Amino acid sequence: LKDLLAEGVSGRGVLVRSDLNVPLEGGEITDAGRILASVPTLRQLLDAGAKVIVTAHLGRPKGEPDAALSLAPIAARLSTELGRNVQLAGDVVGSDALARAEGLTDGDILLLENIRFDPRETSKDDAERTKLATALVELVGDDGAFVSDGFGVVHRKQASVYDVAKLLPSYAGDLVATELDVLTRITTDTEQPYAVVLGGSKVSDKLAVIEALAPKVDTLVIGGGMAFTFIKAQGSPVGDSLLQEDMIDTCKDLLERFGDVIHLPHDIVVADKFAPDAATSIAMTSDGFTEGMGLDIGPGSVERFAAVLRSAKTVFWNGPMGVFEFEMFAAGTRGVAEAIVAATADGAFSVVGGGDSAAAVRSFGLSDDAFSHISTGGGASLEYLEGKELPGLAVLETEG
Ligand code: 3PG
Repeated sequence: LKDLLAEGVSGRGVLVRSDLNVPLEGGEITDAGRILASVPTLRQLLDAGAKVIVTAHLGRPKGEPDAALSLAPIAARLSTELGRNVQLAGDVVGSDALARAEGLTDGDILLLENIRFDPRETSKDDAERTKLATALVELVGDDGAFVSDGFGVVHRKQASVYDVAKLLPSYAGDLVATELDVLTRITTDTEQPYAVVLGGSKVSDKLAVIEALAPKVDTLVIGGGMAFTFIKAQGSPVGDSLLQEDMIDTCKDLLERFGDVIHLPHDIVVADKFAPDAATSIAMTSDGFTEGMGLDIGPGSVERFAAVLRSAKTVFWNGPMGVFEFEMFAAGTRGVAEAIVAATADGAFSVVGGGDSAAAVRSFGLSDDAFSHISTGGGASLEYLEGKELPGLAVLETEG
């Protein structure tokens, strides 16, 4: 971004890809983290007199307009945060977007409607994506530039992330740069002990990251729904808990190879139903349970996990330990979060990745500043840690 600002952007059209994919409940934003994280890059461009056009997605619409996934609430919040009117185009690259783009004056900002309303954004066909990218370029004009600042989407080979960077002079925004600095810090010359905490519902989503990190870390704590496939792999019944039958053998293999670093919960909060007022009991994972479903790690596990985390010098955490949205099953996730906060206060470098973990932290009233970094990227940060090439970053290196 510094290079672009040094070149001068006053009066130029600058297309910015941001990740404004925030959770909504009844049209209300429940965690504005990604919007707030997008503001610094936008503010610098606006202050420098650019005509800023922001493109972003919300959710996974089916390639056509869907009123429930309009960016209207996001435009409103962005206006408040920037202290400027953020216009929202009624379409992605249609006549309204074009007319509004033409009407921009220096320091104005326009948000295009949800880019995924256009099926070409996520098309597997390069030519289709390029057509949409070309339409985006038309909005900023011939002397325009592209700033890639949506860290949460850089792992997607999509028109507004990847293809457009081939058509315009392209730059990484400050958010992307910061996220990369942090991820580099937890992948190279990491201060030991290094503890990684993985949760969330599916083992299959975390398989590659377990493979990549287990040989490098001192402790790999596994909780959340994904833990039940491991517990089953150890031979204990898990009742009606989340289970990926087809992953049991894979989990057995991971335990054989990395059993010395993998820490599984040894007790579980079992509920008779998936509800905030369920009746609960504690089961030891060595015995397992045949009825009910595990919705959180048990109190003994919280204590053990917390002890390991408190003494770590580097921590990466992705995925909740239980159904933290229900207060009765939030203790595991809260205990892990608080232990990481304590370690951070003692000088550890801590990174929280993934929308659910970030939302959990904020719902517990913990400040973002209590951690070294809260990443805006869930899938993106995991893929980076897996060692995968991220298309949205690779294209900046080759074309930017
Ligand atoms: C995210 O929520 O992780 C990013 O916004 C990417 O969204 P996607 O997984 O729908 O591509």
